[in-house]
Amino acid sequence: MATHPLEPFRIKMVEPIAFPSREERLHIIQKAQYNVFRIPADAIWVDLLTDSGTGAMSQEQWAALMRADESYAGARSFQRFQEAVQSYTGKRFVLPVHQGRAAEKILAEALIQPGDAVISNTFFDTTVANFRAKGAVPIELPVQASAPDNPFQGNVDTEALRKTLKKLRNEGQRVALFTMTITNNSRGGQPVSMANLRATREILNEFDVPFHIDACRTSENAYFIKTFEDGYAGRTIEEIVRESLQLADIVTMSAKKDGLANIGGFIATDREDWVQTFSQYLVLWEGFLTYGGLAGRDLEAIAVGLRESLDERYLAYRVGQVRYLAEGLREQGVPVLWPPGGHAVYVDAGAWLPHIPAHEFPGQVLVIALYVEGGVRAVELGSLMFGKDRMVEKELVRLAIPRRVYTQSHLDHVLWTFQKVAEKRTALTGFRIIQEPPYLRHFLASLESIGGPYAP
Ligand code: F0G
Repeated sequence: MATHPLEPFRIKMVEPIAFPSREERLHIIQKAQYNVFRIPADAIWVDLLTDSGTGAMSQEQWAALMRADESYAGARSFQRFQEAVQSYTGKRFVLPVHQGRAAEKILAEALIQPGDAVISNTFFDTTVANFRAKGAVPIELPVQASAPDNPFQGNVDTEALRKTLKKLRNEGQRVALFTMTITNNSRGGQPVSMANLRATREILNEFDVPFHIDACRTSENAYFIKTFEDGYAGRTIEEIVRESLQLADIVTMSAKKDGLANIGGFIATDREDWVQTFSQYLVLWEGFLTYGGLAGRDLEAIAVGLRESLDERYLAYRVGQVRYLAEGLREQGVPVLWPPGGHAVYVDAGAWLPHIPAHEFPGQVLVIALYVEGGVRAVELGSLMFGKDRMVEKELVRLAIPRRVYTQSHLDHVLWTFQKVAEKRTALTGFRIIQEPPYLRHFLASLESIGGPYAP
């Protein structure tokens, strides 16, 4: 039996949840044309759409909000933010941005020339979209699915990286940068080992390619390093985070994840020449250098949140909660990516609903069933999301767990919902797209049910 970790907090402020009935939920999802992004949040029992910006703030964060300085330039809040980011990353220069993709856009504009290659263990969607928008050609080199007990399946394949860089050099192809996404969100939220980060640094030195780390979930990644990598058991999370990020030339972070904040992000680097260029774009698109599109109170929340994310007890609970849900599902016979990563459980809907072909979106079928049967909102990561832009290896559904928000009972409700869905599994039918936009279609697409229990 899976055991749930003890929450390292008690609840001081509560947010009520609404409980629309199954009949109401069926009506809501039909009206939303089977797109869960159209469901009003107060029609959801347990919302696992994303772990981004959905976390609960601590009493220290709320207290810091009251101390915020909203001066346009040189605010005290920026000083505190800068110190926190410097201490987290070990980097000297810090530029605030309103969220992760803004940092990616600035990076792309400053460092990429049209036609450049960019390489990664796996890019997150917004990262690759911003790099593509600047004319870059992306290459992804994740480690091939290895032994299921390998805890670092987010790694880059270093042998393939060296080969690729050699080949590109021989062809005279410029490589603008290498991005390591930690943890590797698009590959199951899997961690990256310190050995892999170090080996990557050495290879990039050889080929003179800048090393970019997308650091959204570096605290969670550090917990995996401490737990599973030789030589790290006695190190603090803070030391491991800094050691990881020190290897990079440039760090970008969406603070909506391990920043434990509801909005915000940053760019950090030691390269003075780059900072000049980044600063110009920052002022143009985000705001002045000391607020970057954020309120002083956001800067304060991030400064405190970054430090709180280094608390080992919190991380044990966080990663333990993800594992609890993954183990519970596995015990029920639901196929999940294994081992579970740091922020979400990824269900292999294609394997669980083998009677639904990829072009009828088995992931979306599961997402809709979870909502109708239990009011649970998840997100499809399969042919609906990627079908037009990327090779789809697996029809996945992600159950992302917001930080410090849900308790064991909420997760038990999710497990119960899967049981309900399992009872109807063979009667479920696919979907067809009736309307879609040209980019990022999953956000705005409309679908219809091909018969089945959820058709009008
Ligand atoms: N990089 C990674 C690895 C991410 O997971 C995200 C966001 C971003 C960059 C972009 O940050 O949203 O602040 O602009 N991921 C969210 C998710 C949206 O649901 O996984 P942002």
